[in-house]
Amino acid sequence: MTHLNDAPSPRLEARNLTRKVDGKPIVDRVSIKVFPAEVLAVVGPSGAGKSSLLRLINRLDEPTDGVVFLDGRDYRELPPRELRRKVGMIMQMPYLFPGAVAENIRFGPRQRGEDLSDDEIERLLARVNLPGFSHRDVSRLSGGEAQRVAIARALANNPEALLLDEPTSALDEEAKAAVEALLAEIIREEGLTCVWVTHDLAQAARMGDRVALMEAGRLLRVGAPEEVLNA
Ligand SMILES: Nc1ncnc2c1ncn2[C@@H]1O[C@H](COP(=O)(O)OP(=O)(O)O)[C@@H](O)[C@H]1O
Ligand SMILES: [Mg+2]
Repeated sequence: MTHLNDAPSPRLEARNLTRKVDGKPIVDRVSIKVFPAEVLAVVGPSGAGKSSLLRLINRLDEPTDGVVFLDGRDYRELPPRELRRKVGMIMQMPYLFPGAVAENIRFGPRQRGEDLSDDEIERLLARVNLPGFSHRDVSRLSGGEAQRVAIARALANNPEALLLDEPTSALDEEAKAAVEALLAEIIREEGLTCVWVTHDLAQAARMGDRVALMEAGRLLRVGAPEEVLNA
């Protein structure tokens, strides 16, 4: 994907984003642009501030300085619920509410007064390769199945962007490969703009159109995967 000729405006932009806790910056003046349908992979050692950066982008935490723009709009102008509809989050360990799979998927749309039909639920479940899982109890799902329900739940909101925090790290090898392939397909088909945090450099190379390297809260490098990962 090239941005050289048409210079599109970024879907997501962090400008000088900073969060200090007890005076210590855990995210330190991070500026990044993520373009429509682009996947920015974020790598870096444990404690580098990768998860903290995602929490700031989704406004689960407040920055002490800097700002995020979504489609050029200061994200503080958006009601948080609207922001979280547009920008979905997939965590390492999905938090599913106790109960049936379908109830988890209905949750987001219901918050805005939209009731998904059984057909819509089934279509979302088919999309994540879980046909017929609607009435399953979430406590009986495997790790890979639970993560796919979390993906379906995010898709139910029709997001523009997804933030993924080590989405395959808690899975065994087989589930990891399946979830990665599924996410790759959905991201491409839906044209989702993504910030994908991973400690797995091979995954960053496979998934990232560009890669950003963080260390001690700072963004050290951002560029083509081969440039950043081989440096
Ligand atoms: N709520 C918090 N309060 C204080 N320190 C925190 C908090 N969250 C994260 N940190 C610290 O911020 C740093 C970055 O953490 P984190 O964003 O989880 O890193 P990563 O995801 O790259 O492993 C770590 O030193 C961590 O201990
Ligand atoms: Mg983390």
